[in-house]
Amino acid sequence: MQVPNPPAAAYSDTAVRQFALMSVVWGVVGMLVGVVIASQLAWPELNLGISWLSYGRLRPLHTNAVIFAFGGCALMATSFHVVQRTCQVRLFAPGLASFVFWGWQIVIVAAAISLPMGYTSGKEYAELEWPIDILITAVWVAYAIVFFGTIAMRKVRHIYVANWFYGAFIIAVALLHIVNSAAIPAGWMKSYSAYAGVQDAMVQWWYGHNAVGFFLTAGFLGMMYYYIPKQAGRPVYSYRLSIVHFWALIFTYMWAGPHHLHYTALPDWTQSIGMVFSLILLAPSWGGMINGVMTLSGAWHKLRTDPILRFLIVALSFYGMATFEGPMMSIKTVNALSHYTDWTIGHVHAGALGWVGFITMGSLYYLIPRLWGRTEMHSVKAIEVHFWMSTVGVVLYIAAMWIAGVMQGLMWRAINADGTLTYTFVESVKATYPYYVVRLLGGLLYLGGMLVMAWNVWMTVVSGRSVPARIPTLVHA
Ligand code: HEM
Ligand code: HEM
Repeated sequence: MQVPNPPAAAYSDTAVRQFALMSVVWGVVGMLVGVVIASQLAWPELNLGISWLSYGRLRPLHTNAVIFAFGGCALMATSFHVVQRTCQVRLFAPGLASFVFWGWQIVIVAAAISLPMGYTSGKEYAELEWPIDILITAVWVAYAIVFFGTIAMRKVRHIYVANWFYGAFIIAVALLHIVNSAAIPAGWMKSYSAYAGVQDAMVQWWYGHNAVGFFLTAGFLGMMYYYIPKQAGRPVYSYRLSIVHFWALIFTYMWAGPHHLHYTALPDWTQSIGMVFSLILLAPSWGGMINGVMTLSGAWHKLRTDPILRFLIVALSFYGMATFEGPMMSIKTVNALSHYTDWTIGHVHAGALGWVGFITMGSLYYLIPRLWGRTEMHSVKAIEVHFWMSTVGVVLYIAAMWIAGVMQGLMWRAINADGTLTYTFVESVKATYPYYVVRLLGGLLYLGGMLVMAWNVWMTVVSGRSVPARIPTLVHA
């Protein structure tokens, strides 16, 4: 049966446009701070003796800016875009979507001011103090209402798999944020965690790992399941596999947190559970990666000419790499070598630069011209240049960190025949120096690519028109 839509219905894309642009802006800012702290690790005097610019304060600024500002804005832009197209309705409560946009920007600005001033709760990836945490909660509830409200009003019976991933990301992040940020205020910008000792550590890394699983993975998988088929012009390789992928991934991630606490005061059996679930996690992660890559079946030749598709597919290769490496690093004996070293930093950025960065860039390159009434970006050549700059950048970054990390681990455990340590700690720092410089070069290239993107986006936006996109007039019910 065919059901006509109301005549003048158009998608509500204002928040999508705003979030898409701010993702690029915050990407540049967050990566610039990344480059600054990478330089400080090579040349510590670059903090210029100013407390605001000290490494300890800028590092959380970097992580918050790239994860929550760059990644968060991209997730909000794409989820609002995808949910409307796949449900064939406009956003539920566009006014609330506007609150989500402005509220999220205030959170980011508050972070950008309070972190360099030294206000922190001391919990990694959850450093912001309690008044900002409360604002995050309000914005997140509004985000959930807009997203799930749109799903509830859908004109298509089936809920497309990308929405399942976005939905799981929204629900899980709400749960993680509320549980991990529970604290007793002791002043306007000071609080104490509601948990103590090893429980505090366990809650923190349950949060920390699921921030990886749901913020840095599930939401971006939502992007993958919409934008790869769109850009490739092919249906998802196996829809059945996408459903198995979804349930297996969200079930397994929740248990893997203790791999961040190997050889600590956490009970040994808990550490083992974390390790076992991390190993199991390889299967759904690779199932999803293969599903994304195989979506290109019959369209492989497009990779030769389409730099956007290349961003999207290379993102999956890095996803596969990081989700192979992660389970290996969760094995206790491997972790004994990798923990505290730059190997972890290499792993993080294989996922962050390679997976999160590339899938975001590919999706935004698909999205932005369409949002401004154009068929493609201002310069396809510039996308090509961006692709190669960031690819070389990631490879330099992660290769340098892998070598540095394994070297540090081996130097720290090297023992002479009489049982004394072969190397002092400072010798390992000295040996790491060249790799820090190579990492900086990689970071500069990656940031350079992002600046090329910002220019290309600007040119596309100023020469385009933000025409309202019509909802298809007929849908199959
Ligand atoms: C130009 C690009 C980037 C550069 C140069 C850069 C550099 C850095 C540096 C120097 C650190 C501190 C490492 C340490 O403490 O030893 C760091 C940490 C981190 N970065 Fe980046 N980064 C970049 C992009 C990104 C992006 C795009 C993301 C996420 C989407 C990201 C996520 C993180 C995370 C999560 C950490 C903390 C890692 C940990 O605690 O183990 N970075 N980054
Ligand atoms: C199957 C999937 C994965 C598993 C089992 C896994 C496992 C691990 C392990 C064992 C560590 C080291 C913990 C330590 O020694 O302290 C780690 C650190 C980390 N991983 Fe993964 N990883 C996976 C995928 C990813 C992906 C895709 C990303 C990014 C998008 C990522 C981001 C991170 C971050 C940010 C850290 C550093 C946490 C910190 O100490 O601050 N991981 N992961």
